[in-house]
Amino acid sequence: MKIFIAPEAELASMVADRYEALLKAKPDAILGGATGSTPLGLYAELVRRNKAGKISFKDVKTFNLDEYVGLDGSHDQSYRYFMNKNLFEQIDIDIANTHVPSGIVTENCADYDKEIEAAGGIDLQLLGIGVDGHIGFNEPGTPLDSLTHVVELEESTRVANSRFFKSIDEVPTHAVTMGIKTVMNARAIILMAIGKSKAEIIAKTLQGPICTEVPASILQLHPFVEFYLDPEAAALLK
Ligand code: GLP
Repeated sequence: MKIFIAPEAELASMVADRYEALLKAKPDAILGGATGSTPLGLYAELVRRNKAGKISFKDVKTFNLDEYVGLDGSHDQSYRYFMNKNLFEQIDIDIANTHVPSGIVTENCADYDKEIEAAGGIDLQLLGIGVDGHIGFNEPGTPLDSLTHVVELEESTRVANSRFFKSIDEVPTHAVTMGIKTVMNARAIILMAIGKSKAEIIAKTLQGPICTEVPASILQLHPFVEFYLDPEAAALLK
């Protein structure tokens, strides 16, 4: 486990360096995508490097972590919409190679794991973290051997994410998410966290006991995990 602490503006560029190195070594890499405010700076930097001709996504495949149940890709709060707008439409990726779990057809969501496996497995999975320690939408209590599945969202998650909706009533109650095992199967993982609201959960995740109550704490067991934190998110680390 490696921990990097730097101001927010530098983090995006440090993580983009990791993507650049990976794509040079493996132009057809399989990337695991994340949503939320945290990766926005990184995505802007990847777009910039793509436009500058430094990196290409033309042979890349992506698999996103999660999606809200009930929202299709045309809904402006769906994670498919977020990814198209903030990354895919701005880079040279083939949109057919981008995957986001369906929030509409959720019956066979574990097939998502089979698709990931058939593609060769995820080379680099990006993660943010929820204030309750969720990764993707794996809320506290999620079994560590879980594959892609439907979850009921915690009230704290709905409240935190309601800032993007007109009101809390519009925030979906359920989501589809890669499971914890799906995430842990990735060959390398990068978790980014920014801001003081993440300080407590970052300390528990990195230095607390590994437990299902803090889903992200399982990452301590991953052989290639890197944490990129700003000083505020890292403030409670010992
Ligand atoms: C959502 C997503 C997570 C993300 C989290 C944190 O709940 N499902 O994947 O990590 O939000 O979001 P933010 O980066 O906006 O703090």
